[in-house]
Amino acid sequence: MNYAITLESPKDIDAIETLIEDAFGPGRRTRTVFQFRDGRAPLAEFGFVAHLDGDMVASIRFWPVVLPNGQTVPLLGPLAVRPEIRGLGIGRALIRKGIDAVMESGAPAILIIGDPGYYAPFGFRVDTVHDLDMGGPVMPLALMGLEFVEGSLSGQSGTVTPVPADV
Ligand SMILES: CC(C)(COP(=O)(O)OP(=O)(O)OC[C@H]1O[C@@H](n2cnc3c(N)ncnc32)[C@H](O)[C@@H]1OP(=O)(O)O)[C@@H](O)C(=O)NCCC(=O)NCCS
Repeated sequence: MNYAITLESPKDIDAIETLIEDAFGPGRRTRTVFQFRDGRAPLAEFGFVAHLDGDMVASIRFWPVVLPNGQTVPLLGPLAVRPEIRGLGIGRALIRKGIDAVMESGAPAILIIGDPGYYAPFGFRVDTVHDLDMGGPVMPLALMGLEFVEGSLSGQSGTVTPVPADV
């Protein structure tokens, strides 16, 4: 199977929104993570899509969020793969691509609210963010962190907040 991963472009946006809506449903708007994204743009340099036979079939995005010390770091997600091609490694390939891009940018860390079973193999840990919270419930998922600079997450305590909304 030949799929290509590229940076997201403006022509992908409608298809990404449909993919996310189908994957997470309208209930996603009530989740704690939604307040971090609503009215704010994703980080364009870390948004990747997979195309298969010309169709956009998977997407990963990151949003900026603010740590208690005022530093901004990327929050991974949403990640979604079209149901008919799940289990083929496209999700993992997009995560790898996103992590590498964030690391190369010099950002000190990545946060995610996700399933530890899926994200632990990439180095995401719950104990790294033991003293951080997202200002609302995240169960049954968990807040996890991946540090490129030691202490950038684990050295902090308090609530992670959204960046100011776009005007
Ligand atoms: C989660 C998702 C992105 C994975 O995409 P994918 O392309 O199927 O992932 P991959 O093929 O790279 O990996 C699949 C593997 O991850 C496992 N996996 C998927 N979701 C998992 C989870 N929540 N916890 C643990 N393992 C998980 C699968 O069982 C499979 O395991 P295997 O390789 O041993 O068979 C996809 O299932 C999806 O879009 N789900 C709906 C949206 C969603 O839940 N996104 C994640 C939000 S945290």
